[in-house]
Amino acid sequence: MTGKGGVGKTSHAIATALGAAAHRHRVFLLSADPAHSLGDALGRRVGARPVAIAPGVVAREVSVLDELDRSWSEIRRWLRELLRDETDEVLAEELLVFPGLEELMALRAVREVEATGDFDVCVVDCAPTGSTLRMLRFPDALRIFMENFFDLERRSARLLRPLMERIHAAGVVPRDEFFEAIERLYADVEDVRRILMDGDRTTARLVVNPARVVVEETRRSFAYLSLYGVATDAVVVNRLLPAPATGGYLARWAERERGELDSIEASFPIPQFRAPLYPRELRGIEDLAILARDVFGDRDPAAVFTRGRPIRLHKRAGRTRLEIDLPGVSKEEIEVITRGSDLLVQVRNASRWIGLPTSLRGRPIRRARLHEGVLEVDFG
Ligand SMILES: Nc1ncnc2c1ncn2[C@@H]1O[C@H](COP(=O)(O)OP(=O)(O)OP(=O)(O)O)[C@@H](O)[C@H]1O
Ligand SMILES: [Mg+2]
Repeated sequence: MTGKGGVGKTSHAIATALGAAAHRHRVFLLSADPAHSLGDALGRRVGARPVAIAPGVVAREVSVLDELDRSWSEIRRWLRELLRDETDEVLAEELLVFPGLEELMALRAVREVEATGDFDVCVVDCAPTGSTLRMLRFPDALRIFMENFFDLERRSARLLRPLMERIHAAGVVPRDEFFEAIERLYADVEDVRRILMDGDRTTARLVVNPARVVVEETRRSFAYLSLYGVATDAVVVNRLLPAPATGGYLARWAERERGELDSIEASFPIPQFRAPLYPRELRGIEDLAILARDVFGDRDPAAVFTRGRPIRLHKRAGRTRLEIDLPGVSKEEIEVITRGSDLLVQVRNASRWIGLPTSLRGRPIRRARLHEGVLEVDFG
């Protein structure tokens, strides 16, 4: 579950978990939002250790710092040592701060849930869309970093070699632990990426409120999720004014809301679920189970409501076409460039380095066009 700040992600993540458990799934509910709030919404403590919160539902708040410590501290320590005397501060920053890594490490916990074999469904309460998208960029960033800086097979730092030779004198030699840590990190990120981008196993659900700014931001997030290869299978419209509240003082709000609902309909060509604005805060299992029933009725919230592959590669008559779903994006907002073995797709302030299959490397782009919300890139 993701969406703009405060729209109801945590409430709906819990409701989805409870609803899935009511359909006899064994459910794990994971909070990957560093500002954990499962506990607040449930009115009880949930911590880094898995705890049963309802029949069939186990919950856990991932401690990002713990997760990071496991592999990242070694890497950071070495890089910091290596760069200690280096004057290029920008480079040092780049290497030490990987935006999105923390969030991604939280998702490593999904793998652990899967490895237990004790659960059918894992519902993740994600951070607001901004950090979720940063997280999705990370695997690309890491791959580029690895390809440029490291030669893992030879266990050497490639681009850093001249620099390393200079500091060799200072006695700073990357120890084996460093390369092991890098290898582990790389493998972990790759695993998480594989889970996230498998549309049969993982889908994003966007929570939205019928308010202009929320709808606009969520529409962009929808496109960015596709760009990163994550399929979105439903949108949950939360906090709709219920019928008794649509007259009198709130009549004009209700009218605006109808306008926003039309725009939601047009912006998200995927199944839509709705929840009313309740007369009070939702707190505790009972409230959230009511939310689940109101949203899903008899349907199983663990179902995949629509299947899609946001990024597709077609071969036809010797020509190759790459298609990326970019709903709600205009032509002017997109830029496509090939660079070596990668295709760089930029959509406003999000960018994606898509590693091209070997057969396409070095081939020029013959044409790129946006057609009905799909970016089509034809290679020569
Ligand atoms: N449909 C609703 N009716 C009434 N109150 C709601 C509804 N949905 C959410 N709330 C309340 O709104 C507040 C924010 O909801 P919630 O914590 O689920 O949002 P969030 O998107 O997870 O926020 P954050 O971005 O801070 O993580 C909570 O107090 C919750 O009980
Ligand atoms: Mg939340």
